Amino acid sequence: MTTTQSSNADIEMRQLPLDFRHGGHTIRLRHLASDDGNALLEFGRRQPNEDLLFQERDITNVADIGDWIHESEAGRIRSVVAEENQQIIGYATIERGRLRWTRHVAEIRVMVDVSARRLGLGHILLGLAFESALTDDVAKIIAQMTPDQVGARKIFERLGFVEDAVLTRHVASSDGELHDLVVMRFDTKQRLICEECGQPVLTLIPMQGKQLCWACYEILDHELGAG
Ligand SMILES: CC(C)(COP(=O)(O)OP(=O)(O)OC[C@H]1O[C@@H](n2cnc3c(N)ncnc32)[C@H](O)[C@@H]1OP(=O)(O)O)[C@@H](O)C(=O)NCCC(=O)NCCS
Repeated sequence: MTTTQSSNADIEMRQLPLDFRHGGHTIRLRHLASDDGNALLEFGRRQPNEDLLFQERDITNVADIGDWIHESEAGRIRSVVAEENQQIIGYATIERGRLRWTRHVAEIRVMVDVSARRLGLGHILLGLAFESALTDDVAKIIAQMTPDQVGARKIFERLGFVEDAVLTRHVASSDGELHDLVVMRFDTKQRLICEECGQPVLTLIPMQGKQLCWACYEILDHELGAG
């Protein structure tokens, strides 16, 4: 992967809502709304237990969902959701460190409905959450996962994340088992090169075997739709 160094100012922010089309799906990407509580709960309750185990909040629980929406409204969390047929099918959040000495660090989390995985949605949600982190001038983004979350690790690596640390026996699951925790990091000054136009961008989107910036992705998507 080609990388370069740049400043956050060169990134053009996407205006939400946006439509993402893939294989017959049209998925709306938008900010979390204050009346999304029930749709989020339904989303949480559709996900397999193993994927819910290590989430910061219990997204099958009304109080935790209420807390998430409240934190988002207060601007402490930035949340992008993916919606199809009035159902939430994925989200990404960015939450900035609360301690004075970690204000430059934000944590990113992503989850995609089991029925909508491998469409490229996780990648796109993460890209949008990245952009929103930049509006806060975050210098470092981290993601946390266990070593057996292979899909999660791959998707973050593909976006340019690298391993920062492994905390051994750091996570206790509900059955009392202790698991290692992998912390991955992304330096927001880092840029990737679009394989179509050669411009430095923060994240790339795969399409037709190429890694593209949003602008080239939209042009190609439009051409394919028209063709
Ligand atoms: C991780 C997760 C968000 C991926 O979402 P997704 O929409 O399926 O991801 P994408 O379709 O954008 O995948 C992009 C690439 O990531 C890799 N990838 C994603 N899931 C993978 C898996 N299970 N195994 C191997 N590679 C995987 C692939 O390279 C994939 O590209 P490809 O389909 O062209 O091969 C989803 O599996 C999920 O919600 N997992 C549970 C929650 C979680 O682990 N979150 C991460 C911690 S914050």
